[in-house]
Amino acid sequence: MSDTIELQPPGVDRFPVRTPTPPARLDALSREILALKKKLNAVLLAHNYQVPEIQDLADFVGDSLGLSQQAAKTSADVLVFCGVHFMAETAKLLNPNKLVVLPDKDAGCSLEESCPADKLKTFQAANPNFYTIAYINCSAEVKALSDVICTSGNAVKIVQAAPKDRDLLFVPDENLGAWVQEQTGRPMTLWRGNCYVHIEFTHASITRIRREYPEAPLVAHPECTQAVRLLADEICSTEKMVSYCKGSTARQIIIATEAGMIHRLKKECPDKTFIPAPSSQCRCNECRYMKLNTLDKLYKCMADLQPRVELSPALMDRARAPIQRMLEISAK
Ligand code: 13P
Ligand code: SF4
Repeated sequence: MSDTIELQPPGVDRFPVRTPTPPARLDALSREILALKKKLNAVLLAHNYQVPEIQDLADFVGDSLGLSQQAAKTSADVLVFCGVHFMAETAKLLNPNKLVVLPDKDAGCSLEESCPADKLKTFQAANPNFYTIAYINCSAEVKALSDVICTSGNAVKIVQAAPKDRDLLFVPDENLGAWVQEQTGRPMTLWRGNCYVHIEFTHASITRIRREYPEAPLVAHPECTQAVRLLADEICSTEKMVSYCKGSTARQIIIATEAGMIHRLKKECPDKTFIPAPSSQCRCNECRYMKLNTLDKLYKCMADLQPRVELSPALMDRARAPIQRMLEISAK
């Protein structure tokens, strides 16, 4: 059961403080959700950062790449997406004729917010030779302006496959972009966006925890800053964190990403101890958008079939092409 209390960012009142749901209510809701899933012929997809009770009910729990791959091949009639809005939107782009619902339509992302489509369009117009690679954490409108999409799990491969005669523009995450640049040696113009959760890990906070657990390797998400990445033993997507930790001989592992990841890792590697890396402020490391989803809202969205993702067919066609290009390159 999730029992963390969310810290209110200053001036933000649309993210209510979460209070624990009593276990009996969680059990009853879980049973009702499973019954609805059967009745609707629905598939329940959840990101690794979702609260434990949602992860435990899902048909598939994974990273953005795995979730897109699952969405691309599902035979379900209804997709119930527990993650943030751009993830549900991606599932809709891949299933234009199916119903895609999500527990909370306000589950945004600081990366998506950092890159409005009109600003990107103006920037692209200044350099027509740009080949635009968009991290999947962006709106459908931004996807429609991009040549190819990538996730943290395949960004290196996608950049390596980019045409050699084009200037590369990478949007919207400057940290992921900088890491991919280091890995591939391919210069890119980087959009100045970042994930507000991952930039909270600092060189000082990570050095402190490494001193406390000198034997524990550090696994970090590529959305972390370079100062943090330099201290990491492994830098990878949330799904690759699972395979790295399974294969590691270490008994204790420090994890620098959103806190929901710890539940998945504990389930997959019950013999290991996971230490959530502290940020400069605290050890909460919670994405306030991911944590908008609750079991109550999940039940309600399935019962009402609302809120649902709705996009114009023309936008869906333009935004789907770069996602399909990504899936093709990824499969090679
Ligand atoms: P992953 O694709 O690695 O799960 O990352 C998604 C995300 O939003 C990270 O903050
Ligand atoms: Fe966006 Fe960061 Fe939340 Fe991931 S953790 S959804 S990148 S704000």
